[in-house]
Amino acid sequence: MSDDIARLLRAARAVIPCSYAPYSGFPVGAAILTVSGEVFAGCNVENAAYPLGLCAEAVALGAMVSAIGAQRLRAALVLTARPVPSWPCGGCRQRLQEFMEADAIVYAAGCEAEPVGIPFARLLPLAFGAGDLAPRSP
Ligand code: THU
Repeated sequence: MSDDIARLLRAARAVIPCSYAPYSGFPVGAAILTVSGEVFAGCNVENAAYPLGLCAEAVALGAMVSAIGAQRLRAALVLTARPVPSWPCGGCRQRLQEFMEADAIVYAAGCEAEPVGIPFARLLPLAFGAGDLAPRSP
């Protein structure tokens, strides 16, 4: 296992016991790695008003921006408490898009499986991003 994956997995494992998921019973830990080598993690935080719940990836991104400001990401990992990995939800793919290049790697990990990684562009092809908002020549 590469050093990047080991660091991400360790960080996600550290936060998953803190997950607050009383409604879904689906704890998630996410970890992100900046291009300069810093790791941040977050867990999902649900709410009795269901749509207000936060995904683990959103919490990890918030931790990074709050601690050191917005950075480009080299990799991200999503860990669930299930044996088989799950990939980030659609909303979190878009959240990650804000900070990831097409060739950054996203890993999915379950508690009984080795993490599986794919390039971000495979996870969210034809992504909408900041470039779409740039002024265009007529
Ligand atoms: N969840 C995440 O934290 N990340 C995802 O990418 C998918 C879903 C959370 C949200 C909710 O707390 C629980 O998993 C079930 O959907």
